[in-house]
Amino acid sequence: MEKKVVFSGVQPSGGLTIGNYIGAIKNFVDLQEKYNCYYCIVDLHAITVPQIPKDLRKNTLEVLAIYLASGLDPEKCTLFIQSHVDAHVELTWVLNSISYMGQLNRMTQFKEKSKKSEENLNAALFTYPVLMAADILLYQTEFVPVGEDQKQHLELARDLAERFNNRYSETFKIPEPLIQKFGARIMSLQNPENKMSKSDENENSYILILDKPDVIRRKIKRAVTDSIGEVKYNDEQLGIKNLMNIYSVFSGDSIDVIENRYEGLGYGKFKEDVAEVVISGLAPIQKRYDDLMKNKDYLEKVYRQGAEKANYAAIKTLRKVYRKVGFIQR
Ligand code: AMP
Ligand code: TRP
Repeated sequence: MEKKVVFSGVQPSGGLTIGNYIGAIKNFVDLQEKYNCYYCIVDLHAITVPQIPKDLRKNTLEVLAIYLASGLDPEKCTLFIQSHVDAHVELTWVLNSISYMGQLNRMTQFKEKSKKSEENLNAALFTYPVLMAADILLYQTEFVPVGEDQKQHLELARDLAERFNNRYSETFKIPEPLIQKFGARIMSLQNPENKMSKSDENENSYILILDKPDVIRRKIKRAVTDSIGEVKYNDEQLGIKNLMNIYSVFSGDSIDVIENRYEGLGYGKFKEDVAEVVISGLAPIQKRYDDLMKNKDYLEKVYRQGAEKANYAAIKTLRKVYRKVGFIQR
């Protein structure tokens, strides 16, 4: 039997956080064993906000190296760069023709990002979710592992697939989101009501996968907590709850075990230990990352082969779509 398809993507917009790692990349690694996985570096998505070209190139390779360093194996899954497979843009155009302005206008990520860049509100930011739908639908994807923040975009992808299928006959598989119960939303260390994001102005609010041990210690020490003083998992103590989630993911210990371990010990000791667990969890990834970045030829080989495989699968779907909408075969 053919393996089911998994697709996901990460933007190369500089410095991935442990939120990206926990919410997305860590799960990618588990899924590659069982499914036919496509993991993309979505550079086309990245230019919806202004980018410096040389940084975009560097960040794109950086995400690839982080994928590999985290344990993604190009023998088991397809790793590629979005702009290397033309069909993503081509399908986007067709899907744009069945996308309603009203629905795109309701996307929370668009609303948030457009508030931030009012003078530079570009059309690509508006159709961003349509490109994301094209990414997913091209591969006849069954499952899409993402963090909680992407749920609404997934819903749109499902709507577009259904709409197309109804209008032109069965073409796309309807994808399902795969959202972890745990760690789907890692919060800002400075304001635990917001998600941890690399675009935050305050550097202390996030930990990067590539942060050095001292930086990690400092950021966790400064993490906002509360005056209750007990390591307990609840919604009155969002900062502590978030640190417990992080601790649990990196150590493998359950929340109960963590609560018991820190009973009566206060936040100082707890924070020190969170930092150490994160540091030792990231150390092997950072080591492999450094080695990989020294081997650009290898990275090039991986993304070239990935694009070839992805292209093959994507073109099959695109050809069908072009035929169904009435384009004459070339
Ligand atoms: P992005 O950096 O926006 O391309 O996100 C890449 C992946 O990481 C997506 O699946 C996001 O849902 C996920 N992600 C980003 N930030 C977080 C976070 N703070 N907690 C959990 N998942 C996240
Ligand atoms: N929009 C996603 C994010 O910001 C990234 C992304 C682009 C994606 N295309 C995708 C995720 C397809 C899953 C599937 O996180």
